[in-house]
Amino acid sequence: MLRKKLSKEDSPKNITNIEKQLDANDFIVSKTDIKGNIIYCNEIFSNIAGYKTSDLIDANHNLVRHPDMPCLAFKILWDLIKNKKEFFGFVKNLCADGGFYWVFTYVTADLDADKNIVSYTSVRRKPLKSAIDTIIPIYKLLIDAEKSGGMGESQRVLNEFLQKNQTSYEEFVVNLQKGE
Ligand SMILES: Cc1cc2nc3c(=O)[nH]c(=O)nc-3n(C[C@H](O)[C@H](O)[C@H](O)COP(=O)(O)O)c2cc1C
Repeated sequence: MLRKKLSKEDSPKNITNIEKQLDANDFIVSKTDIKGNIIYCNEIFSNIAGYKTSDLIDANHNLVRHPDMPCLAFKILWDLIKNKKEFFGFVKNLCADGGFYWVFTYVTADLDADKNIVSYTSVRRKPLKSAIDTIIPIYKLLIDAEKSGGMGESQRVLNEFLQKNQTSYEEFVVNLQKGE
């Protein structure tokens, strides 16, 4: 029998404020095809997200997309990884029961011998609380900008913030996770 492939449309509508936390030694690992469909995930991922591993395989990764995440974060992610560059960032993810968990994420392209992208891999760990406290209001600003002026406005707000702090996106997020 054909199994329905899960995606964002199948994610829970009853979003709650119940937070799940990764343990300090946990790593969430997933691998996707070039369209973002999950082709591998470890048990730590299925456990925290609240899905069976068999339901996650073939599902689009946006199944765990949380509405508190600005679209710009994923635009930055895809622009970098499609260009074979690494992405670092803080991501709030949605669990099957409507709760959420924060991660510090690293995503990169997997290349074949001819340097073609064949898949993407992501490894995530527990973020520093101080980093999340800093990122929450910034994501809120970006989401408000997206509502009023779309992605262009969101990018403008982020650029203005980075310029004011004399930093780049990557330097900013990596330093946050170092506690700086
Ligand atoms: C390897 C890899 C891992 C990803 N992990 C996540 C994730 O944990 N949470 C998430 O919301 N999006 C993740 N994404 C991005 C999703 O593919 C997608 O761009 C995002 O959820 C926004 O989806 P939407 O544009 O359909 O709303 C990942 C993408 C890749 C390539």
